[in-house]
Amino acid sequence: MLPFIDLAAQQARIKPGLDAAIARVLAHGGYVMGPEVRELEARLAVFCGATRALSCANGTDALALPLMAWGIGAGDAVFCPSFTFAATPEVIPWTGATPVFVDILPETYNLDPAHLDAAIEAVRSQGALKPAAVIAVDLFGQTADYPAIAAVCRKHGLKLIADCAQSFGATLNGRHPIHWADAATTSFFPAKPLGCYGDGGAVMVKDDALWNRMDSLRVHGKAVTGDGATNGHDPRYLNARIGMNSRLDTLQAAILLEKLAVFENEISLRQPIADRYAEALAPVCRSVPRVIAGGVSTWAQYVIEHRNRDGLATHLKARGVPTAVYYPVPMHRQTPYAGFPRGPGGLPVSEAKADRVLALPMHPYLTPDIQDQIIDAVRGFNG
Ligand SMILES: Cc1ncc(COP(=O)(O)O)c(C=O)c1O
Repeated sequence: MLPFIDLAAQQARIKPGLDAAIARVLAHGGYVMGPEVRELEARLAVFCGATRALSCANGTDALALPLMAWGIGAGDAVFCPSFTFAATPEVIPWTGATPVFVDILPETYNLDPAHLDAAIEAVRSQGALKPAAVIAVDLFGQTADYPAIAAVCRKHGLKLIADCAQSFGATLNGRHPIHWADAATTSFFPAKPLGCYGDGGAVMVKDDALWNRMDSLRVHGKAVTGDGATNGHDPRYLNARIGMNSRLDTLQAAILLEKLAVFENEISLRQPIADRYAEALAPVCRSVPRVIAGGVSTWAQYVIEHRNRDGLATHLKARGVPTAVYYPVPMHRQTPYAGFPRGPGGLPVSEAKADRVLALPMHPYLTPDIQDQIIDAVRGFNG
């Protein structure tokens, strides 16, 4: 079986730097919140044009932290897509708020701004919940339509989080999502475009006060600037709010610094592979991915649609080509989420996509030979 994502090829490329970076951490011994964590935060902010970046334990906590920092809770509505990974809606009930599911655009799989607007209007006119925030997701590596989504958020006075777990590094008109969002989050899960060797996450922001509140929340609500006098006490043992433990390990930060150094190049290596797939597979698939005008995708996933998706997956598996289905059941159809509200008219696009999507192997180190093997296997399916 071919690898779905070839992390070994990437590791071979940067091994000397990784070994040295890990050895440096072992030598200084600052395993938690060490100097590499601070350096990574500074570099992430510069990379995507944010004022500041705050690292944390994973991409799920990265979504929860801004919601908590804004005081979102019971009685608030947070709008998000249903066609996403569970982490996106999951953090909303953690705070006591209610997720409201919004449909996606058929071409990009990302939030439909018109349906978002209608969903906010409907919640507002029903009066039971107060619209508070939107979590837009950049599915499969490309940004959502942030100019349109941010305009809807501004119109209704809502905060906007960009869930960039799958798209960190992607741009729209040359800008990263934090340009439009109040907070942009990412995951460093190993399979993500910028991944570490364990769990990790980060939140990018444009506002020091928000960064400070999240810095407090990630360390059990420790006292931070703005929380008043510490009277000589260690601020870690003065707890200004109820927080959590969500720190990034120094070893993971050291690994990420090495990976960040080749990340732009890796993004550029993925594009010709996506182009080649598109040209070869468009004639035999129901659809191949389309990137929003002005967008650069990081191609976290290469997702085709096929009318006999399951038949094609079985055929490919027999030929050593692994595939994955993201996502087989939209969140509003999953038991714990089935009772939450949906935008007017329901979520027909999300429901239709779940039966057709199939992700093919995609990573920066897919050689032309392996691309051929995958393309030939797809083209050879007659089902
Ligand atoms: C869209 C999306 N959001 C959030 C997450 C959560 O990231 P993590 O697994 O690091 O908690 C993921 C992870 O797969 C994701 O795909």
